[in-house]
Amino acid sequence: MNIEDFATFCKKKGIAFRSADAYGGYAGFYDYGPLGARIKRNVVNAWLKFLDRRNIVPFDGTIVTNPKVWEASGHVATFGDLMLTTVKTRTKVRADHFIEETLNIAADGMSADEIQTLINKHKLQYNGEDFEPVQQFNLMFQTQVGAVDGNTAYLRPETAQSIFAQFALIKETSRLKPPFGVCQVGKAYRNEISPRDFLFRLREFNQMEMEFFVHPEKGCELSKELLATPISVLSEEHQGSNADAEEYTFQWFIDKGVNTWQVYWLYEYYHFYVNTLGVSSENLRVREHVGKELSHYSSATFDIEYKFPFGFKEVFGIAHRGDYDLQAHAKHSGMNVTVVDDATQKKFVPHCIEPTHGLERVMLMVLFEAYSEDDRGHVNLALPVSVAPFNIAVLPLVKNKAHLLAKAEEVFTLLKECYSVSFDVSGSIGRRYARADEMGVPYCVTVDFESLEDGCVTVRDRDTMEQERVKIEDLSF
Ligand code: GAP
Repeated sequence: MNIEDFATFCKKKGIAFRSADAYGGYAGFYDYGPLGARIKRNVVNAWLKFLDRRNIVPFDGTIVTNPKVWEASGHVATFGDLMLTTVKTRTKVRADHFIEETLNIAADGMSADEIQTLINKHKLQYNGEDFEPVQQFNLMFQTQVGAVDGNTAYLRPETAQSIFAQFALIKETSRLKPPFGVCQVGKAYRNEISPRDFLFRLREFNQMEMEFFVHPEKGCELSKELLATPISVLSEEHQGSNADAEEYTFQWFIDKGVNTWQVYWLYEYYHFYVNTLGVSSENLRVREHVGKELSHYSSATFDIEYKFPFGFKEVFGIAHRGDYDLQAHAKHSGMNVTVVDDATQKKFVPHCIEPTHGLERVMLMVLFEAYSEDDRGHVNLALPVSVAPFNIAVLPLVKNKAHLLAKAEEVFTLLKECYSVSFDVSGSIGRRYARADEMGVPYCVTVDFESLEDGCVTVRDRDTMEQERVKIEDLSF
């Protein structure tokens, strides 16, 4: 299914709507509907549970902060994309995407000069129009704070900086020493030149980031099992020769000299996707960032890409940020970012390994992975139990029999103690099963006339469609 049809399905099911849909929407902004809001919350909770470890603490920063943070981090000077504007209609397109789509070559990280040279060489136009010279475009949204003119601030383009900017306070109050992590989920804003592909490239989105602080000279021990685990990789060399990804093991990263903590978290997140979110490893690959596309703060970055209908695209990234951010904030604010090594009593500035992913991209991946439609048009959204909007749908066989409804209400109330449960009375039972499958509900519990006699209900499994009679008091999944 293509992305447009999938967006239509998600709208129909109440997963996500264009923001202000009745006004024609607003490019790059989506709202979560009643079902999507539940799935979103479950994805966040699954991620928080995955990171619920003794040396990881949560953090929740503001969206608007002192603009000096963004000057120190380098975002005011460098956080942008190259943009092309057409001469007549002044249509704006993101330069690297335009080059990739028009010439079918990788353009991520190309300089303005390189792009201009390609445009001149191939006499590239957009809808028959020439371009103005290529320009830098800063992606940060600006706002004015207070009643004074010129008090410019920014909506955060990443959640990470609020952690770096508060490093001293977080370290002090959590009483943790490296290796330790700080995780945060929250809104981030980027004034994308061309938002597209439904939830994939948005202007307002959520990030789930972790800044993991380590001793610069101390690695982590990796098990034999981890190192022997197979993984599909598109390396820098593959990209240079336009070759396909190859099957390696995690040992490949060690042989390449990648930081052991970076390898550890790459492995952990990969398995979080496969084991907890139910993503098939066949649809995942790791892509190494080639030198010129590395962000200004990173010395090595690897993405996990998912095979969307519009190609393999980044869902997750893990960067080695070194001490770039802590040093920058120490320099600009005077904050003390050093830590004393208990073993040597020497001070050091921690390095940061950053695993990050966008909530909307994770959701899109999970939804695509779960979606299937058979020849008869029956849709099944095989979401894992941890992510599904409801664990169970309670279905009274008919809606116009008071005693049957009362029994179904009783079952609903009982199950609500432990599970998230929906209650559906409208339409035939077949139609209600189909509706529950489309919503991704793993189990349906049907209360029928026999239930009134024998205290049993029919439990139907979404994925196998098998049905079983179970005593109400034994209902536990
Ligand atoms: N703190 C590092 C950082 O922000 P990034 O690769 O720019 O790195 C992290 O963003 C993640 O945020 C990406 O892997 C992606 O999942 C998500 N993301 C980035 N831009 C996005 C956008 N415009 N729309 C939706 N998700 C986005």
